[in-house]
Amino acid sequence: EQEIPDEEGEEESGEPEPPCPTESEIVRMVVPGTGGRTYRYVLVRSCQTFRRAQRQCSRCYRGRLASIHSRAVNHHLQCTVRARTKRSDVWIGAYASRRVFVSVHAHWMDHSIWNYSKWAPGYPKCFRKKCVTMCTARWRWGSRHCLGKKSPGVGEP
Ligand SMILES: *[C@@H]1O[C@H](CO)[C@@H](O)[C@H](O)[C@H]1NC(C)=O
Repeated sequence: EQEIPDEEGEEESGEPEPPCPTESEIVRMVVPGTGGRTYRYVLVRSCQTFRRAQRQCSRCYRGRLASIHSRAVNHHLQCTVRARTKRSDVWIGAYASRRVFVSVHAHWMDHSIWNYSKWAPGYPKCFRKKCVTMCTARWRWGSRHCLGKKSPGVGEP
């Protein structure tokens, strides 16, 4: 389920892709992982829709929107986002949907296992599908309309 919802299908068709961000528009992060590994992330400070943010990650950084699998990494990213942007929330690589007879279901866009989350109380909120953001004020995740404009955090394992 790589595709985000149909309601997003029509967006921005015909508009040219924006140029890749300059170094002054991004924040590079190196986050320690388990077993001595490190993960590199790029925080892009300019805002765009979820789909555009995804494309920018792959086109400009050969990465993808970040999937988060531990409290430590979440904390690290959240601290940086808080310290280095004025944004209230930034995209991460997940979306949430409600299925018939099933409660809200969240997925990582890269299909990795969903084994960690940090939802704000009452989230994810979704009648249809919603894209996931990391909120700076509450240290937690929220779900937002995918066509809203947010800055993306990019994962590059
Ligand atoms: C989730 O799974 C990944 C991949 O197997 C693992 O590296 C990570 O530690 C797990 N996280 C938690 C919170 O269990």
